[in-house]
Amino acid sequence: DYHHHAREISFASDGPLGRFDRQQLQRGFQVYREVCAACHSLEYVAFRNLTDLGFTEAEVDAIADQWPIQVPTVNEETGEETTRNAIASDHFPHVYANEVAGRAANNNAYPPDLSLMTKAREEGAAYLYSLLSGYEDPPADLPEEFQPGTGLYFNPYFANLNIAMPPPLSDGQVSYADGTEATVDQMSEDVAAFLIWTAEPTMEERKSTGWAVLIFLVFLTTLAFLAYKNIWRDQK
Ligand code: HEM
Repeated sequence: DYHHHAREISFASDGPLGRFDRQQLQRGFQVYREVCAACHSLEYVAFRNLTDLGFTEAEVDAIADQWPIQVPTVNEETGEETTRNAIASDHFPHVYANEVAGRAANNNAYPPDLSLMTKAREEGAAYLYSLLSGYEDPPADLPEEFQPGTGLYFNPYFANLNIAMPPPLSDGQVSYADGTEATVDQMSEDVAAFLIWTAEPTMEERKSTGWAVLIFLVFLTTLAFLAYKNIWRDQK
């Protein structure tokens, strides 16, 4: 079988005590912004959500204002359809006007929205990490029927082995603001971590609430037990 399962990788956000590594999320956002955003939308995320990653409101305003894709709008006086720069409360604008336009620009394959991608694929963020860093030449013994056709690229992590997305990352493609070396492996990991956050930005609250509930229930159970002992103490 030529298909590979995702490689092992751990993220700071894993496990019941997991917390996002905000430095890493910022690097992942940088990869999204400079590379993936050319083709992939992030329709469930608003620019203002980026303050969660540690950006200031002024930084978020600037990111929105400079976003290369404009937001469609209607001129209230003339009724004319125009576009304007994004603002903090906008969601990331769609890359293409519609799916037909998206396919036309990508060899008839549509680049899916990435907001929920780490939840949509069975092996989650580990799959995204493996896919992005896993392009290789087709193995020598690959049967003819699995050979990548025109506009397709061999990737053993992709379910049908040939993906229409050209390898998006190469070493040194971004220059990280925090000085981290931008290897393909590092960028793949960082953008996967960022996409864990886009799929569940409130993960930390969920885990904290879980712990608070658990601790409360242990406390309540102890109290109930002591009350029971106290009430029945004279009955032998
Ligand atoms: C598909 C991520 C950059 C074009 C995908 C998929 C993911 C992904 C997770 C879905 C794979 C699946 O269905 O299991 C990313 C990330 C990028 C990036 C994280 C940045 C590091 C790009 C760029 C382009 C592009 C720059 C356009 C030049 C596509 C296309 C597909 C796709 C056309 C559909 C492939 C198919 O169904 O065969 N990408 N991508 N991607 N991506 Fe990207």
